Amino acid sequence: MTGLRAIVVGAAAGGGFPQWNCRGPVCARFWDGDPRVQARTQSSLAVSVSGEDWLLLNCSPDIRQQIIQTPALQPRQTPRHTPIGAVLVTNGDIDHIAGLLTLREKQRFTLYGTASVLKALKDNRVFDALDPKFVSRKAIELGATKELLPGLEVETFAVPGKVPLYLEEGEPDIGAEGENTIGVRVSSKRTGSTLYYIPGCAHVPDSLFKRLRGASLLLFDGTLWQDDEMIQSGAGKKTGRRMGHISMSGPEGSIAAFAKAEIAQKIFVHINNTNPTLIDDGPERRQAEEAGWEIAYDGMEISL
Ligand code: MLT
Ligand code: MN
Repeated sequence: MTGLRAIVVGAAAGGGFPQWNCRGPVCARFWDGDPRVQARTQSSLAVSVSGEDWLLLNCSPDIRQQIIQTPALQPRQTPRHTPIGAVLVTNGDIDHIAGLLTLREKQRFTLYGTASVLKALKDNRVFDALDPKFVSRKAIELGATKELLPGLEVETFAVPGKVPLYLEEGEPDIGAEGENTIGVRVSSKRTGSTLYYIPGCAHVPDSLFKRLRGASLLLFDGTLWQDDEMIQSGAGKKTGRRMGHISMSGPEGSIAAFAKAEIAQKIFVHINNTNPTLIDDGPERRQAEEAGWEIAYDGMEISL
């Protein structure tokens, strides 16, 4: 196998679906046993060319459960082993880094992130639990192509985002492009098969549209269906825009933004527990699907 294999390890946004303390309209369906909604763990994707070693893109607080439900990520050698050869985090948000604490058991892997995200990890000493004798941290340079695992190449690029919530001081600069939030292009060196993974993005500038035009696979920020959905459902006070997430629907949304991008396969990931597209066969799900989008679920696998 020298093409690309991708597994959606966790399809939900921060909090997961359902979220532990949420009884909004979508979560309530889950708690009430509605078979049209499926639980989803927090945001993460695994990619591999060999099927033997895997790059984990983001490491969610659900990583232990995710390994239990994902055979490709389970240890195969005695006494200690993991197929996770490297972890790359796309921002410093809790849902993308907290699982690193679970990977603290003196196991060798390489941790990649931008210099600013690695600084956030360095500044928080709880992450010293990752013993540097085993876990090397390497800053990834935007725009450079690097072979993170044999035959697996990665290029990172800035996308509009913001600093993590826990680092906000006053009003953050929303939609700034820099090292806080990145998108990732993953490709197989041998076959050239390529995917793009962008679990957080505040809006779609022209440069991003051009970069993604004609891509074979895009996994993209599907946090909210509409910008004021958290407010409408009583789940929070913030708009999607304030959280640094574009919404799916509407003239400013991602469905409209990519309508003419000629991307062969488009999948929404990082789906918030208020998003009505989580409901199988619901009107919003149908609208997204009619526009050529799939709604990711845990264990969804794509081969390119
Ligand atoms: C986000 O994606 O906006 C963050 O994960 C929010 C959070 O940290 O809870
Ligand atoms: Mn998140």
